Amino acid sequence: MRAAIFASGNGSNFEAIAKSNELKNAGLEIEVLVCDQPDAHVIQRAQKYHIPVLVVKLSDYPNRGLYEQAIIEKLIPLKIEYIFLAGYMRVVTPVLLGKYPKRIINIHPSLLPKFSGLEAIERAFASGDEVTGVTIHYIDEGVDTGPIIKQNKVVRLKNDTVDSLAQRIHQTEHQMYRQVILDLLNKNNGVDKK
Ligand code: GAR
Repeated sequence: MRAAIFASGNGSNFEAIAKSNELKNAGLEIEVLVCDQPDAHVIQRAQKYHIPVLVVKLSDYPNRGLYEQAIIEKLIPLKIEYIFLAGYMRVVTPVLLGKYPKRIINIHPSLLPKFSGLEAIERAFASGDEVTGVTIHYIDEGVDTGPIIKQNKVVRLKNDTVDSLAQRIHQTEHQMYRQVILDLLNKNNGVDKK
């Protein structure tokens, strides 16, 4: 499977996917990292794994549609089949969605539909909820909406701080994203593991 990963920041999810031999052996080929932030740490992570990086800044385009069109033109020759959003902090428009329908998957650090949007972990912590979690879903035109593929709970411990809770959420994310992609690869390879 030829994939592009889109990310805007730290890139721990990107790296969890990129370093996985299990995914590689199952046929995952990460053709490119698409990043909208020229200074994002995820770019260094991609370089470490020799994955090509495409930096595209929204501010270089008059609108989001043309920005996405510019990305699509770079993705077409790479024959990208799936796009994995991994901390990509932009809403995807019908331009990209129309080109890759049901082929764009996102990860979000809450049990959607709760705490969609920015700073989900901080808002879940502040809410006092005893259980939060992670959602992986196909995207649609909304913010963190679209058909859910997998949700896992993360329990808030008595002495948790935002940071300790965030750390466990990120660990859960890394395992979950690898598993969801593995399931997708196996499904596409005709292996039914369930
Ligand atoms: C992750 O927690 C991801 O779920 C979240 O951004 C973080 C990126 O971390 N995404 C969203 O909030 C999307 N709405 P990372 O850069 O270390 O992978």
